[in-house]
This record gives sequence, structure tokens and C-alpha cells, in this order.
Amino acid sequence: MEIINKVRHEMTGEIVDFSKVRKGAEIEAEKELTVLVVGGGGREHAIVDALSRSKRVSKIFAAPGNAGIAEQAECVPVKDTDVETLLAFAKENGVDLTVVGPEAALAAGIVDRFQEEGLKIFGPTKAATRIESSKAFAKGLMKKYGIPTAEYEVFCDYQSAMDYVKSQSLPIVLKYDGLAAGKGVVIAETVDEAEGALKDMLLNDKFGHGEVVVEEHLTGPEFSFMCFVSGDRVYPMVMAQDHKRAFDGDKGPNTGGMGTYSPLPFITKEDEEYAYNHIMCATAHAMIAEGCPFCGVLYGGLMKTPKGIKVIEFNARFGDPETEVVLPRLKSDIAEVFMGVVKGTDFQLEWDERAAMGIVLASKGYPGDYQKGFPIEGIEDVDGTVYHMGTAKKDGGFVTNGGRVLFVTVMADTLKEAREKANAEIAKIRCENLFHRTDIGWQAIK
Ligand code: AMP
Ligand code: GLY
Repeated sequence: MEIINKVRHEMTGEIVDFSKVRKGAEIEAEKELTVLVVGGGGREHAIVDALSRSKRVSKIFAAPGNAGIAEQAECVPVKDTDVETLLAFAKENGVDLTVVGPEAALAAGIVDRFQEEGLKIFGPTKAATRIESSKAFAKGLMKKYGIPTAEYEVFCDYQSAMDYVKSQSLPIVLKYDGLAAGKGVVIAETVDEAEGALKDMLLNDKFGHGEVVVEEHLTGPEFSFMCFVSGDRVYPMVMAQDHKRAFDGDKGPNTGGMGTYSPLPFITKEDEEYAYNHIMCATAHAMIAEGCPFCGVLYGGLMKTPKGIKVIEFNARFGDPETEVVLPRLKSDIAEVFMGVVKGTDFQLEWDERAAMGIVLASKGYPGDYQKGFPIEGIEDVDGTVYHMGTAKKDGGFVTNGGRVLFVTVMADTLKEAREKANAEIAKIRCENLFHRTDIGWQAIK
């Protein structure tokens, strides 16, 4: 069993031993908890699934949830960004803890409002969410505090941006500043390509009126390092890797993620210590220094470049679909983890040492146009966990209801076995309009 509970904190020099400090559950009376999970995708299904294994949770609500979540929680038809209705619901239904999945709810200020009303909520404030919602904020923070990332400049003027692009080497990365649902990043191989993208972003306001970050192109394997963060306390989760391209061989258009696995054999213990200290802890401290301490899940989208590990982006929440392979490996009671983060009391993270692999079943056509409403059969035959990303119930069965539809997670002693098993289990799901990748984990399975 792998227990990450002792890490040397390079900012303070002390050894932080998470096993020696008081547990959240010892402080809170042994009360049974009613929990509200905000969101309705595969990530929220994995959170609900983990909460349903908790000894402390007696009731789970999900808003809006989805057809699969409805089998483990009571779904409430409220949109994730409808903060005032969610607040009223939490008060009326005795919700002890709210857990926020999507960034849109965080950027809408759900945490600030719940805190103002004295309710416990897991997630960062609107000011702290800027680490995800504003690329200029995130890059500025990294520059100011020496957190390793790609060299960059920020522009609001098209001509200045073009002049800068022409002075740099290619390829060059252009990022629209704001929540552009993953579509605001262009890796331009030529000056013409950069010109077209900058015109869209700065002259035609394709994503709205905003700024553009122009940055150095980095190379190396990407990976996701999520930590539970409560002010200056940073608790590392096991690492995972996502696969953003639609098809095998990392071909095809970028998607929200087509499959994930954990652990990552190409990340050494030294890499992990470096990323923990110089990126995740350094960022938690920087957020405190900037007057917006972070509370919730800090997601480091990192790259192992020839010049060391650097930050590609931060997210202010659990990754989707990283969460669907990380939480199945968590052996600790997740309600105690959430309560510990919210109240600033300590907890321990204990992990299953087996490998987890998960594969997305997506509607044909995704991430472009696709049709919905195709019947899905065989989910109950799968020997593994099936998280619903976009399904609906019709005539007593499930039908497709989104771009990404299902996520199948299996665990095994090795990643190779996990992938063989995942591909075999997926074959049991019958639906005429779904496709999936078969090579998840190719960077780790030789
Ligand atoms: P982001 O929205 O910032 O995560 O960017 C989306 C994707 O673009 C990342 O997952 C990377 O694959 C790629 N990307 C972003 N920034 C860079 C960079 N500086 N160098 C190379 N690839 C990048
Ligand atoms: N898997 C990438 C993300 O959650 O943003």
C-alpha cells in the first residue's frame, strides 16, 4: 500500500507528516452528513461514487446530476451555475457540505455565496478560481513567484501580438484569455496560421472581447497532478494522464479527454517531489501572498520537458476524466478529506497501489456534431466501474445524451493488464453510435 504522508516542504524546510496531525473526523462530532454535489458529468459521478463509499455520508444530492448518478444520489434539476437556487436548496434540505465539480460554478462565485451564508462548501472562491479562469492571472502569478512555465507575453492589440510572434521561433502557442471550453488554444506552426488565429481572437472577438497570451512551445509528455489544497496545506493525489485527441495514435481533433490512467511510470519520485514543492506548494503560498488563498483541488497540467517540469495550465477543480481513475484508487474516506480541506484540519490520504485505467465511450462525430438518443445495452455486464458522462433514461433503459457518454474504469496489478481488461469490458457495451480509443496509456505501456 502506497501512503503519501511525509513530504519535505522546501518553502519552510520542515518535514510535513500528515499522519501525526489531528483528523477532521476527530474534531467534527460523528454526525452523519448530507452532501450536495454540484455538476452532472463523469467527474461528478466519480465524486458521488466515492462519497457513497464513505462511512459518514447518509444522503447525497446531485445538481443537476445525470441518469447514471441518479442510481447513487437524488438528482435535483438545478443548473450548476444557478447559485441562488442551489443556496436555497442547501439551506432547506439540511446540506452539511457542498462539493463543486465544474469550473463554471466556481467562476460564478458559488463558493463566495455559500460562505457568506455560513455553509460549508468544497472549492475555491471566485478570486482564487482566477488561476483557471484567467490565463493572464495564472501566468502573472507564475512569473512573479518563479514557478516554472513557458515564456510568454500578454496582448490586447492585434498588431503588437503579430510583431511579437514574428520575433519568436515557431511553433508558437496562442491562448485566448478566459474560459473558452478548451477551444481557445492554438498551436501555430506558421506565421500565417498565427495571423488567422490572432485575427479571430483579437479582431473578430470569436470567443468574446479579451486578451491573448502568446507563449513558447514546450515539448514532452503531459501529465496531471491534482492536490487537495487548504491554504498552505497541500496534499498530493496520485498522478494521472489524459489523452486529448479523439483517435488512436493521438490523431484527430482535440476533445475534453478520451481516456486516463494512473499511476505514471515515467514520473519519478524526484519529479514528484519537484512538482510538489516547486509548483504545487509554491503556488499555494503565492495564492496566500496575493490575498486569495486556495481551498479545494488545485490541478497542475504539467509537462516533463527536456529542461524540467513546467506548468502548461492550472485548473481550480478536479480534472475530468482524471478524477474517474484517481478517486477509485483513494482508500481514505473522501468525506473526511473534503471536511478536512474545508475546515483546515488534517487528514491522511491512502492509495490503492493497483493501476487504474479508464476509457471514454463517445458519440460518433464528437467533438464535432453528433446525434443523441441511441439505446445503450450491456452496462450491467461490465466488470469494472461505469461512470456516466452524458446519458438519459428512456423506456427504462439508458440512451446516449452527450458527446462523451460513458467512462469505463478498471483496476489491475499492472497498466498493461488494466488496458487489456478495459478494452475487453468495453466490448460488452452495445450501442451503434459510440466509438472509443484502444491505446490509452501508450506512453507507459511498451
Ligand atoms: P491549455 O488549455 O492551456 O491546457 O492548452 C491545451 C493544450 O494545448 C495542452 O494540453 C497542451 O497539449 C497544449 N499546449 C498548451 N500550451 C502549450 C505550450 N506552451 N507548449 C506546448 N503545448 C501546449
Ligand atoms: N482533463 C482536463 C481537464 O479536466 O481540464
